Amino acid sequence: MGEPILRLGMIGGGPGSFIGPVHRMAAELDGRIRLVAGAFSSDADRSRQAGAGYGIDPTRAYASHQAMIAAEASRADGIDMVAIVTPNHLHVPASIDALKAGLHVMCDKPAAISLTEMKGLAGVAAGAKGLYALTHTYTGYPLVREARALVAAGRIGKLRKVVVEYSQGWLSTALEQTDSKQAGWRTDPARSGVGGCIGDIGVHAFNLAEFVSGAAVRELCADLSIMVPGRRLDDDCNILLRFEDGSERGVPGVLHASQIAAGDRNGLRLRVFGTESGIDWSQETPNTLTINGLDGRTEMLHAGAGNLGAAARAATRLPTGHPEGYIEAFANLYRDFAAAIHAGAMPADLPGVEAGLRGMAFIETAVANSAARAGWVRLDV
Ligand SMILES: NC(=O)c1ccc[n+]([C@@H]2O[C@H](COP(=O)([O-])OP(=O)(O)OC[C@H]3O[C@@H](n4cnc5c(N)ncnc54)[C@H](O)[C@@H]3O)[C@@H](O)[C@H]2O)c1
Repeated sequence: MGEPILRLGMIGGGPGSFIGPVHRMAAELDGRIRLVAGAFSSDADRSRQAGAGYGIDPTRAYASHQAMIAAEASRADGIDMVAIVTPNHLHVPASIDALKAGLHVMCDKPAAISLTEMKGLAGVAAGAKGLYALTHTYTGYPLVREARALVAAGRIGKLRKVVVEYSQGWLSTALEQTDSKQAGWRTDPARSGVGGCIGDIGVHAFNLAEFVSGAAVRELCADLSIMVPGRRLDDDCNILLRFEDGSERGVPGVLHASQIAAGDRNGLRLRVFGTESGIDWSQETPNTLTINGLDGRTEMLHAGAGNLGAAARAATRLPTGHPEGYIEAFANLYRDFAAAIHAGAMPADLPGVEAGLRGMAFIETAVANSAARAGWVRLDV
């Protein structure tokens, strides 16, 4: 505390966008970051309109991120950091421009549209003054952090199996043929990258599985499908995984992600099984974590409760029984990033360049592996 408030410029997040307003709320929740500028849209009028909605000085709503970075650099009260919340194809160009200007970068996922592009960014980030973080939102939930700590402490015994699913139904019809901007860019390879569903939500599931299990995926066998006629990118993914545990065969896992699971909303669920018990967490009921024991007993942990570990308690703002959710989880990433910026180093549990590289390797390897029907392949960054 006592640190100066960081000034944020947003790239994307124009009128009607989904995640821009979420970033704004999350960034400002703890009073350590304030949105002061933005290139909210590539259209100057729409950028100004968004700026007015966010209540920022109209002269600081720009028509491009390049214009924002240049103009803000000449102000004594110019931005310290950017949030990148555009469609995927602009993530790396905007990140590189911001890092080269000495700014810190909070970028939304997927980090890039290809692994090659991400490697280019990693090179720039390695020599940059600014830090780079990636909003894998679900790592910000208190009980996800508790689950990670429990697995690391051996609470479930030795790791035996990981099951992660991310099930949505909103792309069950050809929504991209309507005026849905969100569906439009997500199903367009030029703006989404090589992955559809796998890049949009599969990569969150992948990140969450590695984050909580503490084990890296070393091999996969993918079966991706396009189920809605005319669509150009995958909308359903079924992937077998093997996690590294030092043994010859590794630890088995399953990842299922779908955007054509009719009726499903935001069904992200993670189960991690060990030799003694299994833990179970669902994004739609994020304030509880279930531990099922081999002895037949079920234990339920609650967010905000005093019996949780330090990481989970630090990620909670309210007493137990007062629901916290998506915005607060997002805000935890921003709060951690603000602390990292003041400390000058990234903490181990905040996704950054390494998570971006692994996520892009996962997307690209799974897409190529499925297309070639190649069986098991190594996941190499
Ligand atoms: N972390 C999460 O949980 C999460 C959730 C949803 C979306 N996302 C990610 O956030 C990003 C945005 O997704 P969305 O659903 O908000 O999309 P969206 O279509 O709702 O919004 C994208 C915004 O970017 C703006 N934009 C486009 N080109 C621009 C440019 N050249 N300069 C400035 N602004 C530009 C658009 O005008 C629009 O306002 C995607 O990369 C998506 O994968 C992450």
